[in-house]
Formats: sequence, structure tokens, C-alpha cells
Amino acid sequence: MANHLISPSILSCNFLEIGREVDMLNESDADWLHIDVMDGSFVPNISIGLPVVEAICKRSKLVNDVHLMIVNPEKYISLFHKAGAHQISVHYEACTHVHRCIQEIKLLGCKAGIAINPHTPVELLFDVLEDLDLVILMSVNPGFGGQKFIYRSLQKIEKLRNEVISRNLNVRIEIDGGVGLQNAEKILQAGADVLVAGNAVFSDPDPKGVIRRLKMIGVQ
Ligand code: DX5
Ligand code: ZN
Repeated sequence: MANHLISPSILSCNFLEIGREVDMLNESDADWLHIDVMDGSFVPNISIGLPVVEAICKRSKLVNDVHLMIVNPEKYISLFHKAGAHQISVHYEACTHVHRCIQEIKLLGCKAGIAINPHTPVELLFDVLEDLDLVILMSVNPGFGGQKFIYRSLQKIEKLRNEVISRNLNVRIEIDGGVGLQNAEKILQAGADVLVAGNAVFSDPDPKGVIRRLKMIGVQ
């Protein structure tokens, strides 16, 4: 069995058929369902809000992996928990009191993640690493699906993986942005263990096939 997890991003789905898209993911080899929330302020795009997130979570049988690209995320954590999030990730750059925010997410019974933008050094997370369940390393500038993977991210993955190993921590390393069959193996080799894929999955005529192939990388 593969050790890594696949978290398809619903951002790239056909929103007119969202129920069917979630059903498709439920039947696939996906492990998590990545839900991107954008506020038009932290990122230059607006995606979906609470009612849609709630509908997706109700239909999903996967781990609901909510990625908040919003300012003042602490104001909305409990609402996304109520909407059905199993894990909530907030951006380091959007949060003044990162440590407090992590504690608040965990108090709700959710897994806690911090996401960092491509320009943010991964070392900035080292003092809260033991409190985290996951780190999302953005490998594109957040805001849009279908962008090109920034290859410098591989070095950040390696740095974070080394730190996690040397401190014997249990933190998932999730890579978000521009991930597809062409680069997934390199990303996993660098030390990632969760792959987010939006465009690579939903622009393919066989989305379940892409998810299966991503999941099978490295499996003998
Ligand atoms: C980008 C989002 C990503 C995005 C990934 O701002 O956080 O989750 O949907 O999409 P792809 O895989 O198309 O880059
Ligand atoms: Zn995301």
C-alpha cells in the first residue's frame, strides 16, 4: 500500500455537478477532499463560502480537508468546523497569533494545519511544528487552480521532512499547487506525503484514473 495520501481539490470541479463530482471522489482512491476557501482579500479570487462547504462535507465520505485562504481566519474556524471540516488549515501570513489559532482548531476536535506561501521560509514553522497535524506547502501562489509548480518548493519539502524526522514528529507534509503525474514522484521523493491535485484530476477525461495513478506512485 502507498504511504502517501491524495487530496483532490474540488476547486477545479464542474460546480454545476458538484454532488456528482463529490460522489466520484468518494468512489475513487482519494483519501482526503481538499476544499479551497478564498475571500478576495488574502488572495485575488473568491471561491466558495460556508453553505457550499457544508453541502460538500455532507455528501463527502472522505476526510474533509479545508484550506482557508482568508484574512482573520480565527473568526471563522468554528463555523467551518460546524460545516463539516475534519481538518482546518490557515495561512501563516494571514494569522497574527498562529499558536493560538492552532490550539483553537484542535479544541474543536479538528486536525490543525498551517499553510505557507512560496516566499515564506519553512523555518518559520519550526517553533510550532510539534503542535501541528499538517503543513501545507504552497507550490504556487494561492488563488487559482491550474498554475505551474514552483520547483524551488522541492527544497522546502526536504528541509521540512528532515526537521520532522530529526524531531520524530507526526506531521503530514501536504503539497498544494501544480501537482500532477509529471512531477508527483519527485515531490514524494523530496519527502511530501499528501498530494493536492485540482486541475490534473478534473481536466482529465478519467479523473478516477489520475487519482489511482497518483496513489500508485512508488508502489511495487
Ligand atoms: C490554490 C489552491 C489549490 C488549487 C490546486 O490556491 O490552494 O488547492 O486548487 O489546484 P491545481 O492542482 O490545479 O494547482
Ligand atoms: Zn488548497
